[in-house]
Amino acid sequence: MSKPIFVLNGPNLNLLGVREPAIYGAETLTDIARRTEVRASSLGLKTDFRQSNIEGELVTWIQEARSGACGIIINAAAYTHTSVAILDALNAAEKPVIELHLSNVHRREAFRHHSYVAAAATGIICGFGAKGYELAVEAMADLLKRQGAPAPAGKS
Ligand code: DQA
Repeated sequence: MSKPIFVLNGPNLNLLGVREPAIYGAETLTDIARRTEVRASSLGLKTDFRQSNIEGELVTWIQEARSGACGIIINAAAYTHTSVAILDALNAAEKPVIELHLSNVHRREAFRHHSYVAAAATGIICGFGAKGYELAVEAMADLLKRQGAPAPAGKS
């Protein structure tokens, strides 16, 4: 099987299940990792699911994805709204990127409306809770399929 999809999770997502469940749901990150892996394997893909509270560690993992992953799904949590370092790393990775959030950030405080990650992402999934992780895997499967497909006639 080919390289895994890196599913990277930022600060405070280790607290899922107890952290503001009305916004983020009752599932733990371990529950979410499991359902993500199950969906990926049903599509013939594998995931490498990680979480860190440290910006630099996320940057290091994104750098690792350049040679170690087929694509990146990232819920950068609060770093979404602040981190140029994560944006630069995502651009350098040269992999398909999907931005992900459990909550609909556009319905929330204005400071959550801007995303640095979005500038490097093919697409964004937000507002579907834990289900969003499965949707992101499905979207990534599609992107990877398109990437491997021959160019349409007249577009080579
Ligand atoms: C989040 C949304 C962010 O604004 C917030 O800082 C998070 C989680 C989400 O999944 O909804 O920590 O990324």
